[in-house]
Parts: sequence; structure tokens; C-alpha cells
Amino acid sequence: MLANKPKTKILVDGGDPEETLRVKQLLGFVDGQTTNPSLIATNPQIQQRIASGHSLSSQEEKEEYRKIVQAISPLVGDAGVSIEVFADIGTTAEEMLAQGEEMFSWIPNAYIKYPCTREGLRAAEVSVARQIRVNMTLCFSQDQAAAVYAATRGSKEPVYVSPFVGRLDDRGENGMDVVKNIKKMYESGDGHVHVLAASIRHVDHLLASLATGVELTTVPAKVLVEWATKGFPMPNQDFSYKAVNASGERLKAIPYKELDLKRPWQSFDIAHELTTRGIQKFVADYRSTLRRSA
Ligand code: E4P
Repeated sequence: MLANKPKTKILVDGGDPEETLRVKQLLGFVDGQTTNPSLIATNPQIQQRIASGHSLSSQEEKEEYRKIVQAISPLVGDAGVSIEVFADIGTTAEEMLAQGEEMFSWIPNAYIKYPCTREGLRAAEVSVARQIRVNMTLCFSQDQAAAVYAATRGSKEPVYVSPFVGRLDDRGENGMDVVKNIKKMYESGDGHVHVLAASIRHVDHLLASLATGVELTTVPAKVLVEWATKGFPMPNQDFSYKAVNASGERLKAIPYKELDLKRPWQSFDIAHELTTRGIQKFVADYRSTLRRSA
């Protein structure tokens, strides 16, 4: 068990309540959970149904998703359970919002995940006004995080923004730089957006997130198990993040940008290729669980 709970909240990045329970036994606590369509598609029960030839209708998939988050909900602390709407490139804010409102009613501690796109931001703007907690996902740039800040200004509840570290690393860029840059940019803000470091692939990512002082980080169970095996190391004052890929090659630095958080959210340059690709991958994984006619 973890003797001293870090200031940064630790969430499990997964889609299986039994896994969450195992992590809770290992750490002694779990602050929250994030899910996404890819993680739900790999849930053992869903996989079993598909393997036995029983793929799902979209209604059945939604029911399965609801049951999964309802099982996870009581296991976690106050960082809640993030539930992601099914959004394709052409999905409108109104369509996302309708899903978000329904999903928010599934559990008392829900956060609704919308992508960092124009439509996702529009859905978030309305959601926070209706007191629906949001987690803005597929964030790959400081501009997107600035737009999240501006679109959700005035929210009574903390808003989460999830920069994806590992996916930037995958293409040779230092994803942790985006996390640091967003934290720095938010220093001049009112604190209503909390940074949730996501797409964590190894223990060094986790330690760097803790060292950066993000409010939250979401971590796959296998990385948390590795952390436990190493005796839960913490980043001390001399901790320095290596910023290398799996082959030891240096990742390209992402420079800080001066951005004015008071600007209207529509004025930020929010396009990012990885956001588009991320949406496409989530849609493909979601569809892989569905019957052809669904
Ligand atoms: C969490 O909210 C994200 O969906 C998740 O961390 C993505 O991780 P991946 O890039 O390893 O798929």
C-alpha cells in the first residue's frame, strides 16, 4: 500500500471494475477513473460476448457502458468517473450534449468527456452552465487547453482537461512539455480547470506528472502495478525527466506559447491532427463491438 498519498489525484485508466478493485487493494485508494470507447471495447465481459459471436446493438453497448461505470462509481474517490460520449468527426454539439446529459444521470460522480474540438467545446460550454461536470479529452496543445479554459469560464465545478502525453511521445514530441506548458499558462487563471495528465505509458511518465504538480493523472493498471513493484518511488527534488522514447532517442521539445486566457474560446487555433486521429480510433473501437446492422 502507498504510505503517503500524493497531492496529485490518481485515477485508473481502464474499463473493468474488477481491475479498479485490484488497484484499490494495491494502493489502498483510487481517487477516480477514466474510461473511453477503446477501453470499454476491451472490457472482459464485452470481449467474451463478442468472442462467442454475440456482438452488441448500440443500445446494448450503451447499457453495458452504464453497468460498467455503475460498478466502478462506488469504488473511487472524489475525482469521479469520466464517461466519454460517442463522437465521430461530424457529431454535433447538440448530439454530444444529449448523450452527456443522459450519461451524467447514470452515477452521482460522473464527469462527461467531450473531445477538444469546436463541437466538443460548444457542448462543454452548455454543459457547465447546466452543472454537468466535464473532462475535455484528446488535448494535444496549449491552444486547446486555452480554449477549454475560456469556454468553461464560470463553471461551479472543476473542469478537467486531459493532455495526452504518450500519443505525442509516439510521434517523437515531448508530450510532458504540453502538460508543463498548460500548468504554467493556467497560473494566471482562476483555477477552475484542473490538469489531468493522460496517456501515461510508463512509471517515468507518472513520476514526471507528480513532479509537475498536476491536479490529477490517469494511469493504466499495469503501470500502477509496476510502480508498486518498484516500491512506489516518488520524484524527489533532484528528479529530472529524461524525455526519451523507448529506444532512448530524445523527444522534441514543445515550446511554451504566450496565450491570453481572456480571449473568446473560438479565437484559439484548436485544430490538431492527433485529436482527429483519436476520434477516428475511438469510433473504430466502438464500432468493433457492434453488430453490422446496429
Ligand atoms: C484517458 O482519459 C485517455 O483516454 C487515455 O489516457 C488514453 O491513453 P492512450 O493514449 O494510451 O490510449
